[in-house]
Amino acid sequence: MRNVFTLYSSARKNGNTFEMTQAFSNIVPSEVCYLDDLDVREYDYQHTNQHDDFEMLIDKMLAADIIIFASPVYWYSMTPAFKRFFDRFTDLTELIHLKAKGKALRKKSFYLFLTSVHDQPPKAFVNVVKDTFNYFKWQYAGLEHVKCESGFDHDKACEQLELMAVGLFSTSTEASLQTVLGEQSRSLSKFK
Ligand SMILES: Cc1cc2nc3c(=O)[nH]c(=O)nc-3n(C[C@H](O)[C@H](O)[C@H](O)COP(=O)(O)O)c2cc1C
Repeated sequence: MRNVFTLYSSARKNGNTFEMTQAFSNIVPSEVCYLDDLDVREYDYQHTNQHDDFEMLIDKMLAADIIIFASPVYWYSMTPAFKRFFDRFTDLTELIHLKAKGKALRKKSFYLFLTSVHDQPPKAFVNVVKDTFNYFKWQYAGLEHVKCESGFDHDKACEQLELMAVGLFSTSTEASLQTVLGEQSRSLSKFK
């Protein structure tokens, strides 16, 4: 089983975006971190912020095979915490001890999880992420978007995320994923 690390941000800790990350980590066990609770400071030209949580997050990403960034759409864009985090990627180009880590992230697969009230996420948002990954030569592996016009539809989202999860794993690990999915279906049925 490949390791999954999910980083999510939202103005509400237990909102739709959290629900999406939980629905997925019930299918594929993963470590989930709430970015807004962490101390990731704004980009600083003088790099006086080196002892905040930014490098710890980069290390968590390096320890995983698959990295998921999950955000709601707020005015066609990512949350302020994610923007702050993305700005800090600049450190990966400027600080010698972080440059190697930035390059090592090229071996990882990145997915974007979005929630919004529209049918599709804004192209502008997705392009910011794609262009940033392209700059760093990080692998943008895909996007899952859940429309939450009437709140978070758990069953519908689970169907979508189960399909995505199956696509994530090679045939060699498909059997173990099927076991996870089987257990998940059984545990979900308890709530029906
Ligand atoms: C400040 C704010 C701005 C929003 N802007 C958009 C938007 O531009 N497009 C959209 O489809 N939904 C927008 N929404 C709706 C949210 O994307 C949607 O409800 C999302 O699922 C909320 O996730 P959360 O519960 O994790 O905050 C906005 C919501 C808020 C609170």
